[in-house]
Amino acid sequence: MREASAASFETDIFVVAAVQRFAETRATIKAMDTKLLFEDAAQFVTPLLAIFAVDIATGKDTEALPVLLSTSDTVSKSTARVLETGEFKAGLGETVLLHAPAGLKAERLLLVGLGKAKTLSVDDVRKGAGTAARAAKPLGLREVAIAFPEDHALSDEHVDALPALLTSRVLTEGAIVGEVDYDTYKSDRKDRSVHSLTVVAKEQDKTARAEIQQGFNEGVIIAGAQNFTRSLVNEPGNVMTPTELGKRATAMCKQNGLKCDVHSTERLHELKMGAFWAVAKGSAEPPALIVMTYEPEGGATKDAPVLGLVGKGITFDTGGISLKPAEGMEKMKYDMAGAAAMIGSMQAIAQLKPKIKVIGIVCSAENMPDGKAFKPGDVVTAMSGKAIEIVNTDAEGRLVLSDGLHYAKTLGCTHLINAATLTGACVVALGMINAGLFSNDDATCEKFQVGLKVSGEKFWRLPCTDDYRDQIKSQIADIMNTGKSRYGGATNAAMFLKEFAGEIPWIHLDIAGCAWNEEPKSWLPYGPSGIAVRSIVEWVRSYSA
Ligand code: BES
Ligand code: ZN
Ligand code: ZN
Repeated sequence: MREASAASFETDIFVVAAVQRFAETRATIKAMDTKLLFEDAAQFVTPLLAIFAVDIATGKDTEALPVLLSTSDTVSKSTARVLETGEFKAGLGETVLLHAPAGLKAERLLLVGLGKAKTLSVDDVRKGAGTAARAAKPLGLREVAIAFPEDHALSDEHVDALPALLTSRVLTEGAIVGEVDYDTYKSDRKDRSVHSLTVVAKEQDKTARAEIQQGFNEGVIIAGAQNFTRSLVNEPGNVMTPTELGKRATAMCKQNGLKCDVHSTERLHELKMGAFWAVAKGSAEPPALIVMTYEPEGGATKDAPVLGLVGKGITFDTGGISLKPAEGMEKMKYDMAGAAAMIGSMQAIAQLKPKIKVIGIVCSAENMPDGKAFKPGDVVTAMSGKAIEIVNTDAEGRLVLSDGLHYAKTLGCTHLINAATLTGACVVALGMINAGLFSNDDATCEKFQVGLKVSGEKFWRLPCTDDYRDQIKSQIADIMNTGKSRYGGATNAAMFLKEFAGEIPWIHLDIAGCAWNEEPKSWLPYGPSGIAVRSIVEWVRSYSA
């Protein structure tokens, strides 16, 4: 154990360096090998084959009627006994494990419930697949196979409930995302990772195969991006500094053929980013302005939209001089989840190659109390020229984003989206189930909302109409960085950002309540959730020419 003494300075440096080295190796959790096969699942040799089931009972008080989403007679026979017992109700996330299933080559068969057939959604498949992957871990199994669901058993009204491409995609996503636990900092960690995932779909015609294959490929990309985001959010503040975030973004961009520039203090001054700098200047860690650019092959079409993705990257938020209470402050290491979502989204975009130009901008800094820190009462001038009265230094996210949004416009962005763990008020309003969604443009917002059906993420639209504008009026400067009253805090923050989006269609995602999964589910462990990546990617794809 290390002694706390004056002589421990060198040791401290050594320990930090060691933690960082350790973290770098931990951050690169090896992704699972994934494959898609078209063959009879009953004939597939595997330690564990997972099969989905739904409950087709319709009456409110009727007993559950679990039905397998499989057309294989062999599989049906092997599960007949357990289904007859009524022990398994096919509730969402419910599982039952059978050893040596009769007639199957698999050593174990895992039945995974997806819940009521009547309300079955593709997201239930995502959750079912996550449950299957996670169920294998405590068993110490390194290989998992999941039978591609065949929805013949569903009533007529559900015939189209599971379109092949989307089903394939969400199944793959669910398994890859659900499988990863962020327990990388436990020195006695037992590695329980699953090394290989096989999706086994029945043999079918060429068109159906192509659809399932495409969904699978997309699922691998999107889940990989979400996991990358999670790995960034998971890092503690002593490892994930703005500089480190810049390095990880640079490495990702290099791997994926994206242009990436990481700027710091000097460039912030050149760009006159007074709001961003106000937050950054109290920290010994220099800020990072990360700019990632994706250009479609052959270049973007003239006059086509250019999308700007702006992320809040506060690698630790102490509140600054308006210091936060100690209790719960450790959570503020994930105050860069918006930035991580944008970096992850850029990775997915680089791999999915939509036909649209996308620029990802991350404003990263540490919010610290210090002799050099900004103070309540200070007036700072944002890059846009607006003078901001600082009322509370803990409302720092909107400050860094204000310069990020304005900068995005100067780079030619025609549509903006930002993601940020912005307000506690949003968590009070929506809890940890829905994240906040704000927009100054209904059509743009609706495009985003359409994508939610595919992403399965929950964003609830809250108002930011001009009725609320008075809340951020300042007597001293143009605007102030908090609302006059503490009521409607999430909207007040959105109103502040809206000033900087100006006339440009803009979406603001307040992910404060959803970036960290406090309650583990059968399909998603405790820890960073990777929220917003899937929805942002869907929104970007909706603009692809
Ligand atoms: N990073 C916080 C918001 C937050 C809260 C993120 C909970 C994740 C979980 C943000 O910078 C903040 O402190 N906001 C203040 C604003 C207030 C001073 C107007 C808040 O919400 O209390
Ligand atoms: Zn804050
Ligand atoms: Zn913050």
